[in-house]
Amino acid sequence: MSNISSRNKRGKGPFDTIAPEELLARAREAARLAYAPYSRFYVGAAMLTEGADGVPEVLTACNVENASFGLTICAERSAVAIMVSRGLRRPLALGLVGSPATRDDYLHVPCTPCGACRQILMEFNPDLQVVLASEDGPVIFGIQDLLPHSFNMEGR
Ligand code: THU
Repeated sequence: MSNISSRNKRGKGPFDTIAPEELLARAREAARLAYAPYSRFYVGAAMLTEGADGVPEVLTACNVENASFGLTICAERSAVAIMVSRGLRRPLALGLVGSPATRDDYLHVPCTPCGACRQILMEFNPDLQVVLASEDGPVIFGIQDLLPHSFNMEGR
């Protein structure tokens, strides 16, 4: 898994506001709140957003499952719903972790966003940085690297 975090080392980027490792730490806390009695796969997301008045905010979210399995809401989509509901529209970076079953064993292997969530995230910022965990520390991808040729209605 390639690490492109060096792209962000010069100039003001999201990781001048919050370090990738801190974003993952917030995501791990969020994963503990997951409602995942069916899959027992606990996902946490921590989203750095442009805030109202230009003050960045970190929003956290988890997956929410349902007995009717298809109604499950992924952590990333929960985060987007929270963001928009708070009147915010611009995610800058998203930390994501996911872990099966052992809720105390968070999570130092990558949990990549599902395809549907990649499209949902792309909607709000094609330059979004996605931070994943790995045994060697945070790994960062641009959302466009995770979802090339995403759907849009402008022919971009
Ligand atoms: N899940 C997420 O929260 N995000 C993803 O990107 C993929 C999957 C959740 C949904 C379900 O509750 C559990 O992980 C197992 O699929």
